[in-house]
Amino acid sequence: MNPIVQQHVTDFVYLASIILFILSLKWLSSPETARRGVRAGEIGMAIAILATLAGSGIVQYTWILVGLAVGGAVGVPLGLVKTTAVPQRTALSHAFGALTAALIGISEFYIETPHVTKFGMVEIALEVIIGGLTFTGSLIAAGKLQEILPQRPMTYRGQNLVSLAVLAAAIGIGVTLMFQQEIVWLFPAMVVISLLFGVMLVMPIGGADMPTVIALLNSYAGLADALLGFVLNSKVLIVAGALDGASGFILAVIMCKAMNRSFTNVLFGAFGQLQTGAGKAVEERTVRSATPEDAADILKAASSVVIVPGYGMAVAQAQHKVRELYDILTKQGINVTFGVHPVAGRMPGHMNVLLAEADIPYDKLLDMDQVNGDMPQTDVALIIGANDVCNPAARTDSTSPIYGMPIIDVDKARTVMVVKRSLNPGFAGIDNPLFYMDKTLMLFGDAKNFIGEVVRELGPGSHM
Ligand code: TAP
Repeated sequence: MNPIVQQHVTDFVYLASIILFILSLKWLSSPETARRGVRAGEIGMAIAILATLAGSGIVQYTWILVGLAVGGAVGVPLGLVKTTAVPQRTALSHAFGALTAALIGISEFYIETPHVTKFGMVEIALEVIIGGLTFTGSLIAAGKLQEILPQRPMTYRGQNLVSLAVLAAAIGIGVTLMFQQEIVWLFPAMVVISLLFGVMLVMPIGGADMPTVIALLNSYAGLADALLGFVLNSKVLIVAGALDGASGFILAVIMCKAMNRSFTNVLFGAFGQLQTGAGKAVEERTVRSATPEDAADILKAASSVVIVPGYGMAVAQAQHKVRELYDILTKQGINVTFGVHPVAGRMPGHMNVLLAEADIPYDKLLDMDQVNGDMPQTDVALIIGANDVCNPAARTDSTSPIYGMPIIDVDKARTVMVVKRSLNPGFAGIDNPLFYMDKTLMLFGDAKNFIGEVVRELGPGSHM
């Protein structure tokens, strides 16, 4: 094919893939269109790769095929992990993406030096610093989520200052290299310091804050890819990296807002350490507990039920039992909806993914604002493995660490039932006054087992 025509075809395919990436992000923002969004992203990526492979810049295919085989051997098992392991899997994907950007930046430096322009050096230095810190930061995040590394925030006095000094050193070397590429040890020193900074950035953050950190690292990885696009003069990489960076950043902002936390609090707050004394008040107050039979009787008598799922439903993998409960209750003419808090669980969309897996109709999944409007007219709020996201202290106790966090107002329903194993706190490590209210019944047990027993009580043979 004529090289000019070939270039036009390649540019056209890149344009199509960019459009698909944008549509993919749009569709991914709703559970109804999310599957279409995934397809659009996959097709966009596939045609961008094919156009690149068919393009004129390929010298030989041997190493590409080797890379494809190695990447495939690692990627396929990673793609098959359970949904509860998706946060750490995502962290690993960011680590690999960022490593790629950093390695290409390193090779560009050694190919071009000592003739790298000042602007070129800015691009390479930023790519290597952001790629390097994202690589090690993502590995630490994955290690914390997989519990290979300690989950607790690892802090010491003056830590933020030391970390900032290390980052400043990497940037300082980058600036020096703009003017003095011939000092041979500077570049590898910058690489090592960037890698070290990634570790220092994520170590002080508690394991439970990792999903927010991963969204941020996602945005850094996107930024590194966009810079890589500048280095390689690839428009599709610049746009894809920018989309990735921007969407990761927006996601991190949404998560922080839904937790009523600032970025600085997530990055430097060492949040997620259990507060000593969280259990103290528990012993002094009384709670009312109930059996699966009692719970079934209450549900039978209700005309409207709002189910609020949380992290415990994911741990227990109770979503299919919840679906059975939904089926039985709706068959009896009871109006059942789901109140989904934006940060219920441990990753964005965690509850939506689990409920979709159990084929709960999308139109029954209501977001926080919708469901809160209905709460005073709701007969039963059934909380399944959720805790912080329905803690009324966030609304009523200005001394609470989660004060101001938007919650699902389950305490406004006529009756509240909470399925969990104990009175232990959730992620925020704080007591929940909901458990001690007169209208609350605690349903102690593993979510899957307890809901299973309630379903058995309500099932064929029961006296509904
Ligand atoms: P949590 O407040 O963490 O509470 C979950 C509850 O599930 C625990 O209190 C636990 O109580 C119970 N549980 C655990 N295993 C169970 C099982 N097998 N059966 C029944 N119950 C079980 O969860 P939430 O209400 O979903 O709130 C999420 C929290 O995570 C928020 O504080 C949020 O800010 C934070 N967070 C979320 C995200 C995202 S993106 N979703 C990211 C970072 C942080 P027992 O031990 O007594 O059973």
